[in-house]
Amino acid sequence: MSKPSEVAVLVGSLRKDSINRKLAKALISLAPPSLVPGLVELADLTLFNQDLETNPPASWVRFREAISGADAVLFVTAEYNRSVPGMLKNAIDIGSRPYGHSVWNGKPAAIVSASPGAIGAFGANHHLRQSLVFLNMPVLQQPEAYIGHADKLFGADGGLVDETSRTFLRSFMQAFADWIATQAGH
Ligand SMILES: Cc1cc2nc3c(=O)[nH]c(=O)nc-3n(C[C@H](O)[C@H](O)[C@H](O)COP(=O)(O)O)c2cc1C
Repeated sequence: MSKPSEVAVLVGSLRKDSINRKLAKALISLAPPSLVPGLVELADLTLFNQDLETNPPASWVRFREAISGADAVLFVTAEYNRSVPGMLKNAIDIGSRPYGHSVWNGKPAAIVSASPGAIGAFGANHHLRQSLVFLNMPVLQQPEAYIGHADKLFGADGGLVDETSRTFLRSFMQAFADWIATQAGH
């Protein structure tokens, strides 16, 4: 049996009570044994400025190392104004440079987006896909995961309370594991 795949899980929200952070934790808990998912924090990332590349901030170095060391990336994101929240775009930009040394290159990815609204942050999900095409990340196509009315899915302790969602999210993580294995040639 091949070794489990390390999955960097990035949350597109900094909010303390973030739905997407709760969702990311639920996805981590529902992953099959072939995946070892872990959150990579984005809160301390210095805003990208190409001038800083001569002496990159410690937060950039830490982040680039974390993504380099992962076999795959799971994005769990909120939607701001029908697009990707700026803090997540900032992380993507930091990982993409210096030119020719992108830490994203070739890593299998999957996207889950969530919102209290009805369309489950579809706009952010697809804007993110646009960047991942350029970054050469093979992204899981199906199942798509636009989690609408997501504020209703979690209890007071932050745990998932909706059984239909639990079943779907478990199957999503299995599909992602299968996708990662396919990309690795297993
Ligand atoms: C600046 C801003 C823009 C937002 N734009 C959208 C939007 O385009 N679509 C949407 O469904 N929700 C939008 N929302 C509402 C978010 O979906 C909601 O705040 C959600 O809880 C954010 O995810 P989080 O709980 O993981 O932080 C927006 C919220 C903020 C603060």
